[in-house]
Amino acid sequence: MIPLLKLKGVSKRFGGVHALRQCNFSLQSGEIHFLIGANGCGKSTLSKIIVCALEKDSGEILYNGNPVNFSNPGDARQAGIDVVYQELSLIPDLSVQENMFLGSRNQGKLGFTDTKAQEKICRAALERFKGVVSENLTPDIPVNRLTADERQIVEILKVFIREPKVIILDEASSSLHSTQVEILFNLVRELKEKGHSVIMISHKMKELFEIGDRATIIRNGLTVATVELKESSHEEIVTHMVGEQYFSADKINRVPKDEIFLTIKDLSAGKLKDINLTLFKGEILGLSGLQGQGQSELLLTLFGGHPEYKGDLFLDGKKLNLRSPAHSVRDGFAYISGDRKSYGVFPVRSILENTVLAYLKKTGRKFFSRKSLRSEVLPILERLDLIYDNLDDSISQLSGGNQQKIIIGRWLMTGPKVILMDDPTKGVDIKTKEELYALMKELCDTGVSIIWNSSEDQEILRNADRVLVLNDGWIVDELREDRLSEYELYKAAMA
Ligand SMILES: Nc1ncnc2c1ncn2[C@@H]1O[C@H](COP(=O)(O)OP(=O)(O)OP(=O)(O)O)[C@@H](O)[C@H]1O
Ligand SMILES: [Mg+2]
Repeated sequence: MIPLLKLKGVSKRFGGVHALRQCNFSLQSGEIHFLIGANGCGKSTLSKIIVCALEKDSGEILYNGNPVNFSNPGDARQAGIDVVYQELSLIPDLSVQENMFLGSRNQGKLGFTDTKAQEKICRAALERFKGVVSENLTPDIPVNRLTADERQIVEILKVFIREPKVIILDEASSSLHSTQVEILFNLVRELKEKGHSVIMISHKMKELFEIGDRATIIRNGLTVATVELKESSHEEIVTHMVGEQYFSADKINRVPKDEIFLTIKDLSAGKLKDINLTLFKGEILGLSGLQGQGQSELLLTLFGGHPEYKGDLFLDGKKLNLRSPAHSVRDGFAYISGDRKSYGVFPVRSILENTVLAYLKKTGRKFFSRKSLRSEVLPILERLDLIYDNLDDSISQLSGGNQQKIIIGRWLMTGPKVILMDDPTKGVDIKTKEELYALMKELCDTGVSIIWNSSEDQEILRNADRVLVLNDGWIVDELREDRLSEYELYKAAMA
Protein backbone atom coordinates (compact mmCIF):
# COMPACT_ATOMS: atom_id res chain seq x y z
CA MET A 1 0.00 0.00 0.00
CA ILE A 2 1.35 3.46 -0.86
CA PRO A 3 1.86 5.42 2.36
CA LEU A 4 -0.39 8.45 2.76
CA LEU A 5 2.59 10.53 3.79
CA LYS A 6 6.25 9.74 3.30
CA LEU A 7 9.37 11.67 4.30
CA LYS A 8 12.65 10.77 2.64
CA GLY A 9 16.02 12.00 3.90
CA VAL A 10 14.69 15.18 5.50
CA SER A 11 17.37 17.33 7.16
CA LYS A 12 17.24 20.57 9.10
CA ARG A 13 19.91 22.59 10.88
CA PHE A 14 19.57 25.56 13.20
CA GLY A 15 23.03 27.13 13.16
CA GLY A 16 25.25 24.58 14.86
CA VAL A 17 22.34 22.35 15.92
CA HIS A 18 21.56 19.46 13.61
CA ALA A 19 17.87 19.05 14.47
CA LEU A 20 17.10 16.43 11.78
CA ARG A 21 19.57 14.30 9.85
CA GLN A 22 18.30 12.42 6.82
CA CYS A 23 15.01 11.52 8.51
CA ASN A 24 12.70 8.91 7.02
CA PHE A 25 9.12 8.45 8.09
CA SER A 26 6.06 6.87 6.63
CA LEU A 27 2.39 7.16 7.63
CA GLN A 28 -0.42 4.86 6.48
CA SER A 29 -4.07 5.82 6.04
CA GLY A 30 -6.19 5.13 9.11
CA GLU A 31 -3.35 4.69 11.58
CA ILE A 32 -2.37 6.35 14.82
CA HIS A 33 1.37 6.78 14.64
CA PHE A 34 3.43 8.09 17.55
CA LEU A 35 6.70 10.02 17.26
CA ILE A 36 8.78 9.22 20.31
CA GLY A 37 12.15 10.49 21.48
CA ALA A 38 14.12 12.44 24.06
CA ASN A 39 13.69 16.18 24.55
CA GLY A 40 15.30 18.00 21.67
CA CYS A 41 15.56 14.97 19.36
CA GLY A 42 13.60 16.72 16.58
CA LYS A 43 9.91 15.72 16.92
CA SER A 44 8.43 19.22 16.79
CA THR A 45 10.83 20.20 14.02
CA LEU A 46 9.64 17.23 11.96
CA SER A 47 5.99 18.18 12.50
CA LYS A 48 6.62 21.76 11.47
CA ILE A 49 8.49 20.69 8.35
CA ILE A 50 5.60 18.48 7.22
CA VAL A 51 3.26 21.50 7.05
CA CYS A 52 5.96 23.97 6.05
CA ALA A 53 5.82 25.98 9.26
CA LEU A 54 9.58 25.45 8.93
CA GLU A 55 11.48 25.02 5.70
CA LYS A 56 13.54 21.84 5.32
CA ASP A 57 17.17 22.07 4.20
CA SER A 58 16.95 18.94 2.07
CA GLY A 59 14.90 15.81 1.51
CA GLU A 60 11.54 14.97 -0.01
CA ILE A 61 7.95 14.76 1.20
CA LEU A 62 5.38 12.64 -0.66
CA TYR A 63 1.64 12.91 -0.02
CA ASN A 64 -0.53 10.24 -1.65
CA GLY A 65 2.56 9.23 -3.58
CA ASN A 66 3.15 12.68 -5.08
CA PRO A 67 5.92 15.08 -4.12
CA VAL A 68 4.59 18.12 -2.29
CA ASN A 69 6.10 21.45 -1.58
CA PHE A 70 3.73 23.49 0.51
CA SER A 71 4.78 27.09 0.84
CA ASN A 72 3.07 27.62 4.20
CA PRO A 73 0.85 25.82 6.77
CA GLY A 74 -2.25 27.25 5.05
CA ASP A 75 -1.40 25.25 1.90
CA ALA A 76 -0.96 22.10 3.98
CA ARG A 77 -4.32 22.74 5.68
CA GLN A 78 -5.98 23.05 2.29
CA ALA A 79 -4.46 19.71 1.34
CA GLY A 80 -5.85 18.18 4.56
CA ILE A 81 -2.81 18.21 6.87
CA ASP A 82 -3.05 20.18 10.10
CA VAL A 83 -1.15 20.51 13.39
CA VAL A 84 -1.93 21.18 17.03
CA TYR A 85 1.36 22.81 17.99
CA GLN A 86 3.24 22.15 21.21
CA GLU A 87 3.50 25.81 22.09
CA LEU A 88 -0.04 27.14 22.08
CA SER A 89 -0.88 29.64 19.41
CA LEU A 90 -4.24 31.16 20.39
CA ILE A 91 -4.74 34.92 20.40
CA PRO A 92 -5.57 35.81 24.02
CA ASP A 93 -7.88 38.77 23.38
CA LEU A 94 -10.04 37.02 20.82
CA SER A 95 -12.98 34.81 21.77
CA VAL A 96 -12.97 31.04 21.60
CA GLN A 97 -15.07 31.14 18.45
CA GLU A 98 -12.93 33.79 16.76
CA ASN A 99 -9.83 31.76 17.53
CA MET A 100 -11.37 28.57 16.25
CA PHE A 101 -12.14 30.04 12.84
CA LEU A 102 -9.11 32.26 12.50
CA GLY A 103 -7.57 31.67 9.11
CA SER A 104 -10.33 29.30 7.98
CA ARG A 105 -12.55 29.84 5.01
CA ASN A 106 -15.96 29.22 6.49
CA GLN A 107 -17.89 31.85 4.60
CA GLY A 108 -21.58 32.23 3.96
CA LYS A 109 -23.38 33.59 0.96
CA LEU A 110 -21.90 36.68 -0.71
CA GLY A 111 -18.55 35.96 0.88
CA PHE A 112 -19.50 37.25 4.36
CA THR A 113 -18.43 35.26 7.39
CA ASP A 114 -21.34 33.17 8.57
CA THR A 115 -20.94 33.74 12.32
CA LYS A 116 -24.17 31.91 13.18
CA ALA A 117 -22.97 28.78 11.42
CA GLN A 118 -19.58 29.15 13.11
CA GLU A 119 -21.20 29.46 16.53
CA LYS A 120 -23.16 26.28 15.92
CA ILE A 121 -20.03 24.34 15.00
CA CYS A 122 -18.14 25.83 17.94
CA ARG A 123 -20.89 24.94 20.45
CA ALA A 124 -21.15 21.40 19.14
CA ALA A 125 -17.38 21.00 19.43
CA LEU A 126 -17.26 22.35 23.00
CA GLU A 127 -20.15 20.08 23.91
CA ARG A 128 -17.77 17.12 23.53
CA PHE A 129 -15.89 18.29 26.61
CA LYS A 130 -18.98 19.07 28.66
CA GLY A 131 -18.59 18.07 32.30
CA VAL A 132 -14.78 18.14 32.23
CA VAL A 133 -14.34 21.88 31.69
CA SER A 134 -15.91 24.82 33.51
CA GLU A 135 -19.26 26.12 32.36
CA ASN A 136 -17.55 29.38 31.42
CA LEU A 137 -16.07 27.75 28.36
CA THR A 138 -18.49 29.13 25.77
CA PRO A 139 -17.92 30.41 22.20
CA ASP A 140 -17.89 34.08 23.24
CA ILE A 141 -15.46 34.01 26.17
CA PRO A 142 -12.04 35.58 25.48
CA VAL A 143 -9.28 33.01 25.53
CA ASN A 144 -7.33 34.99 28.16
CA ARG A 145 -9.99 34.03 30.73
CA LEU A 146 -9.48 30.30 30.22
CA THR A 147 -7.32 27.92 32.25
CA ALA A 148 -4.34 26.17 30.62
CA ASP A 149 -6.29 22.95 30.02
CA GLU A 150 -9.21 24.83 28.49
CA ARG A 151 -6.90 26.73 26.17
CA GLN A 152 -5.40 23.47 25.05
CA ILE A 153 -8.88 22.05 24.39
CA VAL A 154 -9.74 25.03 22.21
CA GLU A 155 -6.50 24.56 20.32
CA ILE A 156 -7.36 20.90 19.74
CA LEU A 157 -10.95 21.55 18.67
CA LYS A 158 -9.84 24.29 16.31
CA VAL A 159 -8.05 21.65 14.28
CA PHE A 160 -10.53 18.79 14.79
CA ILE A 161 -13.52 20.72 13.45
CA ARG A 162 -11.80 20.77 10.06
CA GLU A 163 -11.52 16.96 10.09
CA PRO A 164 -8.12 16.90 8.39
CA LYS A 165 -6.90 13.77 6.58
CA VAL A 166 -3.71 13.94 8.61
CA ILE A 167 -3.68 15.52 12.03
CA ILE A 168 -0.50 16.05 14.01
CA LEU A 169 -0.89 16.39 17.77
CA ASP A 170 2.33 17.72 19.30
CA GLU A 171 1.99 16.97 23.02
CA ALA A 172 -1.64 18.01 22.79
CA SER A 173 -2.56 16.16 25.97
CA SER A 174 0.20 17.67 28.10
CA SER A 175 -2.07 20.14 29.93
CA LEU A 176 -5.11 17.88 30.02
CA HIS A 177 -6.35 15.85 32.93
CA SER A 178 -7.16 12.16 32.52
CA THR A 179 -10.91 12.67 32.02
CA GLN A 180 -10.17 15.20 29.28
CA VAL A 181 -7.57 12.95 27.66
CA GLU A 182 -10.23 10.23 27.34
CA ILE A 183 -12.38 12.60 25.30
CA LEU A 184 -9.44 13.62 23.14
CA PHE A 185 -8.78 9.93 22.50
CA ASN A 186 -12.40 9.41 21.46
CA LEU A 187 -12.01 12.21 18.92
CA VAL A 188 -8.83 10.57 17.65
CA ARG A 189 -10.49 7.15 17.38
CA GLU A 190 -13.41 8.64 15.45
CA LEU A 191 -11.04 10.18 12.91
CA LYS A 192 -9.25 6.87 12.56
CA GLU A 193 -12.54 5.08 11.93
CA LYS A 194 -13.16 7.49 9.07
CA GLY A 195 -9.84 6.40 7.57
CA HIS A 196 -7.93 9.53 8.58
CA SER A 197 -4.44 9.36 10.09
CA VAL A 198 -3.07 10.81 13.29
CA ILE A 199 0.54 11.55 14.20
CA MET A 200 0.88 11.89 17.96
CA ILE A 201 3.79 13.14 20.01
CA SER A 202 3.73 12.38 23.71
CA HIS A 203 6.08 11.57 26.58
CA LYS A 204 3.40 9.56 28.34
CA MET A 205 4.00 5.85 27.76
CA LYS A 206 0.54 4.95 28.94
CA GLU A 207 -1.00 6.94 26.07
CA LEU A 208 1.22 5.33 23.51
CA PHE A 209 0.18 1.81 24.36
CA GLU A 210 -3.44 2.76 24.94
CA ILE A 211 -4.18 4.28 21.56
CA GLY A 212 -1.19 3.93 19.20
CA ASP A 213 -0.84 1.50 16.28
CA ARG A 214 2.83 2.15 15.45
CA ALA A 215 5.62 4.33 16.80
CA THR A 216 8.67 5.82 15.14
CA ILE A 217 11.52 6.56 17.49
CA ILE A 218 13.82 9.51 16.81
CA ARG A 219 17.27 9.79 18.34
CA ASN A 220 19.44 12.89 17.80
CA GLY A 221 17.54 13.88 14.68
CA LEU A 222 17.58 10.40 13.16
CA THR A 223 14.62 8.05 12.82
CA VAL A 224 16.11 4.90 14.33
CA ALA A 225 13.17 2.44 14.36
CA THR A 226 9.49 1.99 13.65
CA VAL A 227 7.66 -0.57 15.80
CA GLU A 228 4.21 -2.17 15.92
CA LEU A 229 3.02 -1.21 19.39
CA LYS A 230 1.08 -4.43 19.93
CA GLU A 231 4.36 -6.29 19.71
CA SER A 232 6.55 -3.79 21.56
CA SER A 233 7.30 -2.82 25.16
CA HIS A 234 8.25 0.19 27.28
CA GLU A 235 11.80 -1.19 27.54
CA GLU A 236 12.18 -1.68 23.77
CA ILE A 237 11.10 1.89 23.06
CA VAL A 238 13.37 3.48 25.63
CA THR A 239 16.24 1.31 24.43
CA HIS A 240 15.78 2.75 20.91
CA MET A 241 15.50 6.24 22.37
CA VAL A 242 18.72 6.14 24.34
CA GLY A 243 20.65 3.77 22.07
CA GLU A 244 21.51 1.23 24.76
CA GLN A 245 19.76 -1.46 26.75
CA TYR A 246 17.45 0.22 29.22
CA PHE A 247 15.36 -1.04 32.12
CA SER A 248 13.16 1.26 34.13
CA ALA A 249 14.15 1.52 37.76
CA ASP A 250 12.24 -0.52 40.32
CA LYS A 251 10.19 1.31 42.87
CA ILE A 252 12.52 2.38 45.64
CA ASN A 253 11.01 2.06 49.08
CA ARG A 254 12.21 4.93 51.14
CA VAL A 255 11.54 5.67 54.74
CA PRO A 256 11.26 9.41 55.34
CA LYS A 257 12.43 10.66 58.73
CA ASP A 258 9.93 10.76 61.53
CA GLU A 259 10.51 14.45 62.02
CA ILE A 260 7.67 16.86 61.31
CA PHE A 261 8.91 19.63 59.00
CA LEU A 262 5.87 21.57 57.82
CA THR A 263 2.56 21.77 59.67
CA ILE A 264 -0.57 23.24 58.13
CA LYS A 265 -3.48 23.90 60.48
CA ASP A 266 -7.01 24.80 59.38
CA LEU A 267 -5.90 26.41 56.14
CA SER A 268 -8.60 28.00 54.01
CA ALA A 269 -7.84 30.00 50.87
CA GLY A 270 -9.76 30.27 47.61
CA LYS A 271 -11.25 26.86 47.07
CA LEU A 272 -9.33 25.20 49.93
CA LYS A 273 -11.30 24.26 53.00
CA ASP A 274 -9.85 23.44 56.40
CA ILE A 275 -6.69 21.83 55.19
CA ASN A 276 -4.72 20.08 57.92
CA LEU A 277 -1.54 18.28 57.05
CA THR A 278 1.94 17.49 58.20
CA LEU A 279 4.92 17.06 55.94
CA PHE A 280 7.85 15.05 57.26
CA LYS A 281 11.48 15.82 56.72
CA GLY A 282 12.73 14.12 53.56
CA GLU A 283 9.23 13.17 52.47
CA ILE A 284 7.68 13.21 49.00
CA LEU A 285 4.04 14.02 49.60
CA GLY A 286 1.81 13.61 46.56
CA LEU A 287 -1.38 15.56 45.86
CA SER A 288 -3.95 14.00 43.60
CA GLY A 289 -7.62 13.79 42.68
CA LEU A 290 -9.57 14.98 39.69
CA GLN A 291 -8.26 18.13 38.10
CA GLY A 292 -8.87 21.45 39.81
CA GLN A 293 -9.90 20.17 43.23
CA GLY A 294 -7.50 22.53 45.02
CA GLN A 295 -4.16 20.77 44.44
CA SER A 296 -2.58 23.66 42.52
CA GLU A 297 -4.18 26.18 44.84
CA LEU A 298 -2.59 24.55 47.87
CA LEU A 299 0.84 24.81 46.24
CA LEU A 300 0.22 28.40 45.17
CA THR A 301 -0.90 29.36 48.67
CA LEU A 302 2.31 27.97 50.11
CA PHE A 303 4.14 30.02 47.51
CA GLY A 304 2.51 33.22 48.73
CA GLY A 305 -0.09 33.39 45.97
CA HIS A 306 -3.08 33.69 48.34
CA PRO A 307 -2.00 36.35 50.85
CA GLU A 308 -5.51 36.46 52.34
CA TYR A 309 -5.31 32.84 53.52
CA LYS A 310 -6.63 31.80 56.94
CA GLY A 311 -4.90 29.25 59.13
CA ASP A 312 -1.53 28.61 60.73
CA LEU A 313 1.59 27.30 59.09
CA PHE A 314 4.85 26.26 60.73
CA LEU A 315 8.08 25.26 59.03
CA ASP A 316 10.77 23.70 61.20
CA GLY A 317 9.05 25.14 64.29
CA LYS A 318 8.87 28.67 62.90
CA LYS A 319 5.49 30.29 62.24
CA LEU A 320 5.17 31.35 58.63
CA ASN A 321 3.66 34.45 57.14
CA LEU A 322 3.28 33.67 53.46
CA ARG A 323 2.16 37.02 52.11
CA SER A 324 4.03 36.95 48.80
CA PRO A 325 6.28 34.70 46.74
CA ALA A 326 9.27 36.69 48.06
CA HIS A 327 8.31 35.72 51.65
CA SER A 328 7.97 32.09 50.63
CA VAL A 329 11.31 31.99 48.83
CA ARG A 330 12.99 33.57 51.84
CA ASP A 331 11.44 30.92 54.09
CA GLY A 332 12.87 28.17 51.89
CA PHE A 333 10.12 27.29 49.44
CA ALA A 334 10.67 26.72 45.73
CA TYR A 335 7.89 26.43 43.16
CA ILE A 336 8.31 24.42 40.00
CA SER A 337 5.35 24.65 37.64
CA GLY A 338 4.74 22.66 34.47
CA ASP A 339 2.77 25.62 33.13
CA ARG A 340 6.00 27.20 32.00
CA LYS A 341 4.31 29.76 29.79
CA SER A 342 2.47 31.37 32.73
CA TYR A 343 4.90 30.76 35.57
CA GLY A 344 8.30 30.06 34.20
CA VAL A 345 10.00 31.06 31.05
CA PHE A 346 11.26 34.56 30.29
CA PRO A 347 11.34 34.06 26.53
CA VAL A 348 13.67 36.83 25.43
CA ARG A 349 16.21 36.02 28.13
CA SER A 350 19.11 33.66 27.77
CA ILE A 351 19.43 30.16 29.15
CA LEU A 352 21.90 31.44 31.76
CA GLU A 353 19.65 34.30 32.90
CA ASN A 354 16.63 32.04 33.09
CA THR A 355 18.54 29.59 35.25
CA VAL A 356 20.08 32.00 37.77
CA LEU A 357 17.07 34.27 38.26
CA ALA A 358 15.65 32.90 41.52
CA TYR A 359 19.10 32.21 42.93
CA LEU A 360 20.22 35.83 42.52
CA LYS A 361 16.96 37.10 43.94
CA LYS A 362 17.19 34.83 46.96
CA THR A 363 20.82 35.52 47.75
CA GLY A 364 20.38 39.25 47.04
CA ARG A 365 23.73 39.19 45.27
CA LYS A 366 24.21 42.36 43.26
CA PHE A 367 27.75 41.74 42.06
CA PHE A 368 28.86 38.52 40.52
CA SER A 369 31.20 37.39 37.82
CA ARG A 370 29.69 35.63 34.86
CA LYS A 371 32.48 33.10 35.12
CA SER A 372 31.55 32.07 38.64
CA LEU A 373 27.84 31.99 37.79
CA ARG A 374 28.55 29.72 34.86
CA SER A 375 30.52 27.37 37.04
CA GLU A 376 27.58 27.17 39.46
CA VAL A 377 25.03 26.64 36.69
CA LEU A 378 26.86 24.05 34.61
CA PRO A 379 26.74 21.09 37.05
CA ILE A 380 22.99 21.58 37.53
CA LEU A 381 22.26 21.71 33.80
CA GLU A 382 24.47 18.69 33.27
CA ARG A 383 22.56 16.79 35.91
CA LEU A 384 19.34 17.55 34.06
CA ASP A 385 20.88 16.46 30.76
CA LEU A 386 20.10 19.79 29.12
CA ILE A 387 20.69 19.86 25.38
CA TYR A 388 21.80 23.32 24.26
CA ASP A 389 24.38 25.05 22.15
CA ASN A 390 25.40 28.07 24.20
CA LEU A 391 24.35 29.40 27.63
CA ASP A 392 23.82 32.83 26.06
CA ASP A 393 21.26 31.57 23.52
CA SER A 394 17.68 32.64 24.11
CA ILE A 395 15.64 30.07 26.02
CA SER A 396 12.96 30.09 23.28
CA GLN A 397 15.32 28.29 20.93
CA LEU A 398 15.23 25.21 23.12
CA SER A 399 12.77 22.37 22.67
CA GLY A 400 9.77 22.38 25.06
CA GLY A 401 11.16 19.74 27.39
CA ASN A 402 14.54 21.41 27.61
CA GLN A 403 12.87 24.69 28.62
CA GLN A 404 11.10 22.80 31.39
CA LYS A 405 14.44 21.41 32.62
CA ILE A 406 15.69 24.99 33.05
CA ILE A 407 12.74 25.84 35.29
CA ILE A 408 13.61 22.82 37.42
CA GLY A 409 17.29 23.81 37.46
CA ARG A 410 16.41 27.37 38.43
CA TRP A 411 14.83 26.24 41.67
CA LEU A 412 17.36 23.57 42.51
CA MET A 413 19.97 26.35 42.52
CA THR A 414 18.22 28.14 45.39
CA GLY A 415 18.88 25.25 47.79
CA PRO A 416 15.24 25.05 48.94
CA LYS A 417 13.90 23.36 52.09
CA VAL A 418 10.50 22.52 50.63
CA ILE A 419 9.95 22.14 46.89
CA LEU A 420 6.42 22.70 45.66
CA MET A 421 5.95 20.92 42.35
CA ASP A 422 2.93 21.48 40.14
CA ASP A 423 3.14 18.93 37.34
CA PRO A 424 6.88 19.54 36.93
CA THR A 425 7.48 16.75 34.40
CA LYS A 426 5.10 18.14 31.80
CA GLY A 427 6.82 17.72 28.42
CA VAL A 428 9.88 16.05 29.92
CA ASP A 429 11.01 12.86 28.18
CA ILE A 430 10.65 9.43 29.74
CA LYS A 431 14.29 8.88 30.57
CA THR A 432 14.76 12.34 32.09
CA LYS A 433 11.58 11.84 34.08
CA GLU A 434 13.10 8.72 35.67
CA GLU A 435 16.24 10.73 36.40
CA LEU A 436 14.18 13.46 37.96
CA TYR A 437 12.41 11.00 40.27
CA ALA A 438 15.82 9.71 41.33
CA LEU A 439 17.01 13.29 41.86
CA MET A 440 13.94 14.08 43.96
CA LYS A 441 14.72 11.09 46.16
CA GLU A 442 18.37 12.12 46.45
CA LEU A 443 17.31 15.62 47.51
CA CYS A 444 14.94 14.16 50.08
CA ASP A 445 17.77 12.05 51.49
CA THR A 446 19.57 15.33 52.21
CA GLY A 447 16.56 16.61 54.20
CA VAL A 448 14.56 18.47 51.55
CA SER A 449 10.81 17.77 51.49
CA ILE A 450 8.60 17.83 48.42
CA ILE A 451 4.91 18.43 47.86
CA TRP A 452 4.05 17.20 44.40
CA ASN A 453 0.91 17.56 42.35
CA SER A 454 0.84 15.44 39.22
CA SER A 455 -1.60 14.79 36.42
CA GLU A 456 0.08 11.45 35.76
CA ASP A 457 -1.33 9.11 38.36
CA GLN A 458 1.23 6.38 37.74
CA GLU A 459 4.26 8.57 38.39
CA ILE A 460 2.93 9.82 41.68
CA LEU A 461 1.73 6.43 42.91
CA ARG A 462 5.14 4.93 42.14
CA ASN A 463 7.28 7.72 43.54
CA ALA A 464 5.50 9.51 46.37
CA ASP A 465 5.70 8.28 49.98
CA ARG A 466 2.10 9.29 50.66
CA VAL A 467 -0.64 10.72 48.44
CA LEU A 468 -3.35 13.04 49.67
CA VAL A 469 -6.51 12.98 47.58
CA LEU A 470 -8.38 16.27 47.22
CA ASN A 471 -12.01 16.66 46.30
CA ASP A 472 -13.72 20.04 46.05
CA GLY A 473 -11.08 21.74 48.19
CA TRP A 474 -11.08 19.12 50.99
CA ILE A 475 -8.52 16.44 51.71
CA VAL A 476 -10.70 13.34 51.46
CA ASP A 477 -8.19 10.52 51.78
CA GLU A 478 -4.56 9.70 52.49
CA LEU A 479 -3.03 6.81 50.56
CA ARG A 480 0.09 5.06 51.76
CA GLU A 481 1.82 1.70 51.31
CA ASP A 482 -0.64 -0.93 49.98
CA ARG A 483 -3.30 1.66 49.28
CA LEU A 484 -1.09 3.52 46.78
CA SER A 485 -3.06 2.18 43.81
CA GLU A 486 -5.10 3.61 40.95
CA TYR A 487 -8.18 1.83 42.28
CA GLU A 488 -7.94 3.51 45.71
CA LEU A 489 -7.09 6.84 44.10
CA TYR A 490 -10.12 6.91 41.80
CA LYS A 491 -12.39 5.63 44.54
CA ALA A 492 -11.46 8.57 46.75
CA ALA A 493 -11.32 11.12 43.92
CA MET A 494 -14.76 10.32 42.54
CA ALA A 495 -16.57 9.91 45.87
N1 LIG B 1 14.04 28.07 16.17
C1 LIG B 1 15.09 27.37 16.62
N2 LIG B 1 16.32 27.93 16.69
C2 LIG B 1 17.38 27.22 17.12
N3 LIG B 1 17.33 25.94 17.51
C3 LIG B 1 16.14 25.33 17.46
C4 LIG B 1 14.95 26.02 17.02
N4 LIG B 1 13.91 25.14 17.08
C5 LIG B 1 14.42 23.98 17.54
N5 LIG B 1 15.76 24.09 17.77
C6 LIG B 1 16.64 23.02 18.25
O1 LIG B 1 16.44 21.85 17.46
C7 LIG B 1 16.47 20.68 18.27
C8 LIG B 1 15.18 19.90 18.07
O2 LIG B 1 14.11 20.61 18.67
P1 LIG B 1 12.62 20.09 18.69
O3 LIG B 1 11.81 21.21 19.21
O4 LIG B 1 12.28 19.54 17.37
O5 LIG B 1 12.71 18.89 19.76
P2 LIG B 1 11.55 17.93 20.32
O6 LIG B 1 11.93 16.53 19.94
O7 LIG B 1 10.24 18.42 19.89
O8 LIG B 1 11.76 18.06 21.90
P3 LIG B 1 10.69 18.15 23.13
O9 LIG B 1 10.32 16.75 23.49
O10 LIG B 1 11.50 18.75 24.25
O11 LIG B 1 9.56 19.02 22.69
C9 LIG B 1 16.70 21.16 19.69
O12 LIG B 1 18.05 21.03 20.00
C10 LIG B 1 16.28 22.62 19.67
O13 LIG B 1 16.98 23.38 20.62
MG1 LIG C 1 8.69 19.29 20.90
